[in-house]
Amino acid sequence: MSSAESVLIKNGKIVNCDGVKDGDVLIQGGKIKSVGVGLTPPAGARVIDAGGKYVMPGGIDAHTHLNMPFMGTTTADDFYIGTKAAIAGGTTMIIDFVIPAKGQSLLEAYDQWQGWSEGLVCCDYSFHCAVTWWSEQVKKEMEILVKEKGINSFKMFMAYKDVLMLRDDDMYLCFEHCKKIGALAQVHAENGDIIAENAKKVLAAGISGPEGHEMSRPEEVEAEATNRACVLASQVNCPLYVVHVMSKSAGDVIASKRNEGCVIFGEPIAAGLGTDGSNYFCKSWRHAAAHILSPPLRPDPTTPGYLMDLLAKGDLQATGSDNCTFTHEQKKMGAEDFSKIPNGVNGLEDRMSVIWEKGVHTGKMDPARFVAVTSTNAAKIFNVYPQKGAILEGSDADLVIWDGDATRMISAATHHHATDNNIFEGMTCHGVPVFVLVKGKVCVEGGKVTGTKGWGKFVPNLPFTPFVYDPVRKRDAELKAKWKPVERDGYNGEMMSMAKK
Ligand code: URP
Ligand code: ZN
Ligand code: ZN
Repeated sequence: MSSAESVLIKNGKIVNCDGVKDGDVLIQGGKIKSVGVGLTPPAGARVIDAGGKYVMPGGIDAHTHLNMPFMGTTTADDFYIGTKAAIAGGTTMIIDFVIPAKGQSLLEAYDQWQGWSEGLVCCDYSFHCAVTWWSEQVKKEMEILVKEKGINSFKMFMAYKDVLMLRDDDMYLCFEHCKKIGALAQVHAENGDIIAENAKKVLAAGISGPEGHEMSRPEEVEAEATNRACVLASQVNCPLYVVHVMSKSAGDVIASKRNEGCVIFGEPIAAGLGTDGSNYFCKSWRHAAAHILSPPLRPDPTTPGYLMDLLAKGDLQATGSDNCTFTHEQKKMGAEDFSKIPNGVNGLEDRMSVIWEKGVHTGKMDPARFVAVTSTNAAKIFNVYPQKGAILEGSDADLVIWDGDATRMISAATHHHATDNNIFEGMTCHGVPVFVLVKGKVCVEGGKVTGTKGWGKFVPNLPFTPFVYDPVRKRDAELKAKWKPVERDGYNGEMMSMAKK
């Protein structure tokens, strides 16, 4: 099917981030042509009766790692498998991370990632880029990436010491530079120095299993780094997006900094909203290791519900998956030492269902807030709104017909990922995508994924995103107005001479 074919979705409950209304959606040439009541199908159009089910913007997952070389191996999901899993679950756009090695050219890494994704991707995609070292070259390349390559966000790691970690002084300079070029700074917030010391201590105490992972990176280590990143970004009024918020206290830091007026966004992920750190204490090594990611899941079982509450009330804004999958065989690299277990879990396919189950089905959020946190807010933050994240005339026809009452059971036996494990194994979720359309093309229907390799295209993300930079400019003006010198009379007291006698 070409993007030029027409589809009329009738009898839907159309959900946008600001509300729900009954109606039809007409799609032509891959775009939404009109939204209204009683629309007539053009000749030859396919008519899909939504039968009163929700019609929502497809999910946007702004945190994935497909085909990523990491910790001595490469993530199991490549750009084809990963995006096939995405659309199976109702996600129709991803933003993946280009991660240059320390000392590597950012432009060279960008080309690598473009090469790994080209022709394979089933839905549209963009990239963030990580800054893992600092120099004049990095500064120049960041500017080129923003002006010429469609990148508008840069991630800094405060953990993975000696591998990806950036120190505070370099982070400060990087924040300053992001602000100058109109980019959004992102942080992985964990104190890498503390973790490195703690890991040695935990191993020396004879704990080599997966439980040592969380023991060496407790909640306060995440909260401290989250606070430090907010403070550093605030010094130069650089907008900040904290990726994978995994703990109650890190979430609280973001909420309170936002209250103070800092331009900060927080992203909990499917893993942290759907399960918890009790899994690390499971007797089965394979089960426990499959749940290793950083920052870790928290043993406090009230954490997922607490993060969902923050998301529902607007203290956290967008959700990702941090999809970074490894097979049991790959996880075995850390059989003798938890610090060598490749960090990462699944979530790209199941994020939408998990959030529906834990957020909407529990009554914590309504379908409009669901759309905001799974799609629209990411589109606004990364500057692809209203092309993405909305059911509006002219938007891309990336949408999902969603049955909020149907259920499905998550399992590695049936998922579309390349892995033999799933951290949500056995969980039954309300919320099932019945149809998924990517740029007007039906890619999921009746539980079958018919997505096409290469149907997705790279979407450039432009700088100075209004949603992000309008409040930054306002805050700049407020800060400038506050910075007034004290009016004084000139000094007229005694002067001490420093001249040598
Ligand atoms: O454990 C994780 N989160 N793996 C992916 C890399 C990262 O830190 O985002
Ligand atoms: Zn990270
Ligand atoms: Zn990640």
